[in-house]
Amino acid sequence: MKTDEASSTALSVAQCILYRAGQADTASLVSEEVRDALHKILRSSDEGKKILAQSKSSFYKKILSIKERLLIPGISLHYILRKRYIEDYTLNCIKDGVTQVVNLGAGFDTLCYRLSKRFCHVNFIEIDHPATGRLKVNAFKDETCFDKNLTLIQVDFTQQTLEDCLGSHTKYFRDKPTLFISEGVYIYLTEEQVRHQLRVLREMTTIEPKLIFTYSPPDAMKSQNNGILLPLYLKIKGEPFNWAIMNHELGGFLKSNGYVLKSSKSPEEFKSNYLRDDYKGVINIAEHIAIAEGIV
Ligand SMILES: C[S@@+](CC[C@H](N)C(=O)[O-])C[C@H]1O[C@@H](n2cnc3c(N)ncnc32)[C@H](O)[C@@H]1O
Repeated sequence: MKTDEASSTALSVAQCILYRAGQADTASLVSEEVRDALHKILRSSDEGKKILAQSKSSFYKKILSIKERLLIPGISLHYILRKRYIEDYTLNCIKDGVTQVVNLGAGFDTLCYRLSKRFCHVNFIEIDHPATGRLKVNAFKDETCFDKNLTLIQVDFTQQTLEDCLGSHTKYFRDKPTLFISEGVYIYLTEEQVRHQLRVLREMTTIEPKLIFTYSPPDAMKSQNNGILLPLYLKIKGEPFNWAIMNHELGGFLKSNGYVLKSSKSPEEFKSNYLRDDYKGVINIAEHIAIAEGIV
């Protein structure tokens, strides 16, 4: 990614959510709470204000829909559904005793912010590149949860390691039952970087950590699921796809890194939780969601 600009993919996720929130067939999938939180984040910067203005323009909605067809058909709906699935899992974890949630590469995701207000006993931490993270700090700095049970850590992983920025942070507790979320991030890391991160997450907890993450099998990333201009677009934006793994290799890969795979859902599987059987829109099937537990 470009180091002086907010992540274009994170902005694009926010833009897609607002777009879907404005479409009759998918508006009910985006709660008022999510919309308000996203507006709050985006209002705090010029980049964000631009996205908010665009989300109200019917011309931009048309552009967005053409762009989606050329790049990744069905991706805006996918973002909403993967976020719903991750939120449901997070709520279950909290119900089961998790008291710390760490979102790695959080972008403009609103989950930790919203839940930090509802679950005061849970410690929420987000980590992101300063170019993206600073926008959220601006948005949340006056909130009562800010720096209490919601901490935003800004770090460039090309300059500093996760051990250094999180392991020694005063707001991170190694002995709390922890859920790590890595949504839409591992695809941009190399396999070596993913392995390293998995190892570090285990080493930074004294209780088996839970992990929910998105990944793509190589065949799911082929052109029938993606638009023709996607490879060129990612190259220009400086956020190319780096890591993919076959479904049948995931369990072994996680095991070799000290994790037990608990579940892995294809988009068709997790989408069925939220969409009616007769939903006619395009469903993107490129990205899966896995849940794993680390062995400490
Ligand atoms: C595709 S976005 C995903 C955002 C969010 N997880 C979501 O799904 O809505 C990838 C995120 O990784 C972050 N990121 C990329 N490179 C990074 C780096 N070198 N250091 C820290 N964060 C980075 C970006 O700032 C961005 O927020």
